[in-house]
Amino acid sequence: MNIALYKESRSGETRVALTPDAVKAFVADGWQVQVQKGAGALAHFVDEEYAAAGATVVDTPSGEVNVRVNAPTLAEAQALPEGSLHLSFLSPVLNQDVVRTLNDRKITILSFDLLPRISRAQYMDALSSQATVSGYRAALAGAEYFDRFFPLLTTAAGTIRPAKVLVMGVGVAGLQAIATAKRLGSKVRAYDVRSAAKEEAESAGAVFVQLGVTADAAGGYARELTEAEKAEQQAALVNEVAAADVVITTAAVPGRKAPILVTKTMVEAMGEGSIIIDMAADGGGNCELTKAGETVVHGGVRVIGLSNPPAEMGASASFMYANNVVKLLGLFGAKGTLAPDWNDEVVIGVTVARNGQVNHAPTAEALGVAHVAISPQPKENA
Ligand code: NAI
Repeated sequence: MNIALYKESRSGETRVALTPDAVKAFVADGWQVQVQKGAGALAHFVDEEYAAAGATVVDTPSGEVNVRVNAPTLAEAQALPEGSLHLSFLSPVLNQDVVRTLNDRKITILSFDLLPRISRAQYMDALSSQATVSGYRAALAGAEYFDRFFPLLTTAAGTIRPAKVLVMGVGVAGLQAIATAKRLGSKVRAYDVRSAAKEEAESAGAVFVQLGVTADAAGGYARELTEAEKAEQQAALVNEVAAADVVITTAAVPGRKAPILVTKTMVEAMGEGSIIIDMAADGGGNCELTKAGETVVHGGVRVIGLSNPPAEMGASASFMYANNVVKLLGLFGAKGTLAPDWNDEVVIGVTVARNGQVNHAPTAEALGVAHVAISPQPKENA
């Protein structure tokens, strides 16, 4: 069977879903791989490397299995072969037209956003691998935009105090931002509403800020705060934000708009030359003033809305993503043939729809169609 690798069409995207090494692994396992011309160029993987790895480089790939990083556009979705399998990040609840188009064509739709966060699935967890890149990039962006040093320096030309960094949201990205800012020599404080975050933030080198508002939810995620909790949180955060030179925000609530943690009033309390790096910009932003992909200057404070931060590091982000794809597709087939184990909770969890039926309950609700749960059954051909 054929695996088709596409060139990403999202503006500013540099990533590619498979590296030449990942192609080599699939070819060794008996798959044929078609690579769209130039697919890996922006991540520095050239067509010749894909060809040397055993792929056929073509203008218009087509496969029983189709892999991308981003959701396909409607036109790209319409071009996928009927009855094939598609894998990418999809945010299926938000990308309803694409899901409908794919489902009408009886395409098995897999979305990395839905992968269960269990230990066994960590090797396949593209949400985590890309968040690792984003957190690292956010800390580097902080150091790059801040026009003072991050580390303590004692020099003949005077002593420089270390920068004070506040990381808000201590998930996968936040932990990487803490570790990176710490390595650069800054003093890092961190804040999250999940109670488990304290120990994790401390182990990465931050001082944890306790504000008394906790919001633990199922699966280790944060729930959305109530209006009263939001007000309490914001009142307690004012002094923390005001004292920071660099604020890095990474807070997300899955499937919802990013929560506002830094208000305009808080920005106004920050010192001249301070900066905010908002990693949640694509999801609406954690700062009231954030504009995705732009730098907003407000009273001497710069608010930098990072858009698609993994694309800033296409080579490493693609390397990690491709490894996740190889591991996940390993559950869907072997030796060049699709044979998903529909008893596997990871296989079930990551599947949005198949055979024209929507298996993911929130997507079915959003589309206004019947939800058909996948019930475990013996191995079959997809
Ligand atoms: P995320 O990207 O959904 O959110 C980032 C962080 O923002 C989270 O720590 C969240 O608690 C925090 N946050 C949300 N609302 C907030 C608010 N109003 N104020 C302050 N902070 C707020 O998180 P991510 O990185 O996807 O991780 C979520 C959870 O999943 C974590 O517990 C993580 O350890 C766990 N996880 C488990 C994995 C596994 O077992 N395979 C793999 C990856 C993550």
